[in-house]
Amino acid sequence: MSSTSGQGNEQWFARWREGRIGFHSDDVQPMLARYWSALTLAANARVLLPLCGKSGDIHWLAQKGHPVLGVELVEEAVTGWFQAQNEALPAVQSRTNFERFESLERSDRAAVTLDVGNFFHLEAGLSDDIDAFYDRAALIALPQAARQRYALKMAELCRPGVEGLLISVVRDENRDQGPPYVVTDEEVARLFAPNFELERLGEQRDERGMTDIAWRLRRKTPLSC
Ligand SMILES: C[S@@+](CC[C@H](N)C(=O)[O-])C[C@H]1O[C@@H](n2cnc3c(N)ncnc32)[C@H](O)[C@@H]1O
Repeated sequence: MSSTSGQGNEQWFARWREGRIGFHSDDVQPMLARYWSALTLAANARVLLPLCGKSGDIHWLAQKGHPVLGVELVEEAVTGWFQAQNEALPAVQSRTNFERFESLERSDRAAVTLDVGNFFHLEAGLSDDIDAFYDRAALIALPQAARQRYALKMAELCRPGVEGLLISVVRDENRDQGPPYVVTDEEVARLFAPNFELERLGEQRDERGMTDIAWRLRRKTPLSC
C-alpha cells in the first residue's frame, strides 16, 4: 500500500477522524527549537512544511518571521490549526489540486498559508515561493516506496541553495511498523545525497528507545551537461 495512493491516504483521514494523532503537539518540537538556527537563512525566508498536520511548529516558525506554506492532506487538520490559534477560518481559495487557507501577516507573526491536498500533486513552479523547508514527521510518515518519491519531489520543489531541516527517526527495537517508519542514516543519505548536501546535526533519544536525528539539507546545483 502506498501513501501516495488513495488507499494509503485513507488511513490518514481515518486517523484524523478518530483522533488518533499521537504525533501531534501544540508546542514547538525540541529538535526544531534547537537546530533551526543551524540553517543559513534570511530572517523572512519562506518555509515549506510538507505533511504539516496542525503542528505547533507552524506558529513557532511564523512567529520567527517566516511566512509558512504548509501542505496537508486532511482538511480537518488545517481547520484544527486555526481553531487552536483561536483564529477565524479564512475564506477558502480553490486552486488546482488544492484548497488554500491563507492567513495574512499580523503584528505577532508572518503569514500562514495552509494548502489542503496531496503533497505529491504540488507543482514544480512552486519553487519560486520557497526559500527553506522543515520536515518533521513527513518523510517518516511515508512507507519506503513513497519515501523515494518524496525525496525526488523535494528536489524538484527546491531551487539550488534552498536549505531545510529534516528530522528522521530510528528506534532501538528493530521492527518497522510505521508510521512512524524507521529511516536509517544510510537511507537518508541514499534518498537525498544525489540532490542535497547533507549534514547530520545531532540526535535526541527518548525513554521509549526512539532517537530523533536532525539533518541540515542544502539543495545542490544540478550539474550541467
Ligand atoms: C505523522 S503526521 C505529521 C504531521 C506534522 N508534520 C507534525 O509534526 O505534527 C503526517 C501528516 O501527513 C499528512 N499526510 C499524509 N500523506 C500526505 C500527503 N500525501 N500529502 C499531504 N499530507 C499528507 C497526514 O494527514 C498527517 O497529518
